[in-house]
Amino acid sequence: MNLFEKDKTYIASTYNRFPVAITSGKGVLLFAEDGREYIDLTSGIGVTAFGIADEEWQKAVIDQIGKVQHTSNLFYTAPCADLAELLVQKTGMKKVFFSNSGAEANECAIKAARKYAADKYGANRYTVVTMKNSFHGRTLTTLSATGQDHYHELYNPLTPGFASVDPSDAGLKELDALHGKTPVAAVMIECIQGEGGVLPLDPAFVKSLAAWCKQTDALLAVDEVQTGNGRTGKLYAYMNYGIEPDIVSTAKGLAGGLPLGATLLGVKVKDVFGFGDHGSTFGGNPVCCAAALSILRRIDDDLLANVRRKGDFLRAAFEGAKGIERVTGMGLLLGLKTTKPAPEVLSACRDHGVLCLTAKDKVRLIPALTIPDDLLTRAANVIKDVCAE
Ligand SMILES: Cc1ncc(COP(=O)(O)O)c(C=O)c1O
Repeated sequence: MNLFEKDKTYIASTYNRFPVAITSGKGVLLFAEDGREYIDLTSGIGVTAFGIADEEWQKAVIDQIGKVQHTSNLFYTAPCADLAELLVQKTGMKKVFFSNSGAEANECAIKAARKYAADKYGANRYTVVTMKNSFHGRTLTTLSATGQDHYHELYNPLTPGFASVDPSDAGLKELDALHGKTPVAAVMIECIQGEGGVLPLDPAFVKSLAAWCKQTDALLAVDEVQTGNGRTGKLYAYMNYGIEPDIVSTAKGLAGGLPLGATLLGVKVKDVFGFGDHGSTFGGNPVCCAAALSILRRIDDDLLANVRRKGDFLRAAFEGAKGIERVTGMGLLLGLKTTKPAPEVLSACRDHGVLCLTAKDKVRLIPALTIPDDLLTRAANVIKDVCAE
């Protein structure tokens, strides 16, 4: 059996993989088994924030593996504490819970919100409201939080206590009415709905929502799994919106390619968990935390300014280009509404050595934050040519 056949035979058929077998990479170049080379605008869906085999990242990982690869959370390790300190210093949040993925970071956010509300208001205040068209993960509870019915259909009964509203003034009214019936423990948003089609929420709506949360003491949780760690040109996307969330969940790019989730707890929830209230065997693993330290330390003002500059460059290249109807997103998380169907654009780009993603009906571009200008230009030209054909 070749690799494609073996994969199809032995791996559960949940993924519709591209017909590319990756063997290695360097920076934003990926090398395939058949000898082809690709410019990667996917970064493992926003994970390899500094590209493949980044030297500083590799050194941090290898150094830590040579010391101790895992201890469990029954012991103290420096990378875990150092990373929590850095996250707190860079955000003004107060404490951190570490897990292994975006879904788990959101699970923790939901548990923190429900515990806060139950401790303060009693067992009836548990509802978590999310936005229509949101995506919060694949575990049963984060799927229940996800505001897209088609994800729910196969897995009933879902976790109770979730509702979703439209991210608009009408949605705010709905939220208020809902709160009158079943008190709301928290509202969870993605500032840019990534899986939902790279759709930024309206800043006025986000501000009103934050004010509503403050007024009602419903916690504001921001899912930064896809938008975090420099992706939008700020450290976290909520920083573009002038709001102060109570809970922030992050994963994907945080450890640059190793599995790590983090839930940042603000002043209201910093002490909501006591011993045994939550946990994870692998969460805060020292190798993943050492990797994340090497990434997060380098997400400074210069790097963020470059992400914004590169995002502006792409936007200028695509806006008004033939076959491109609309450009959405922020920084290096961009969506292109193309005249041709997005899968067709992806396939043609692949033939020309450029890898992109889809998000709903859009072509999604989410390259490493450090993508060099010349490769960005080359990739943008390929996409433009493909869309114009
Ligand atoms: C906004 C958002 N939240 C949560 C998740 C789930 O993350 P993970 O696949 O790491 O569990 C994703 C994944 O795409 C996401 O985009």
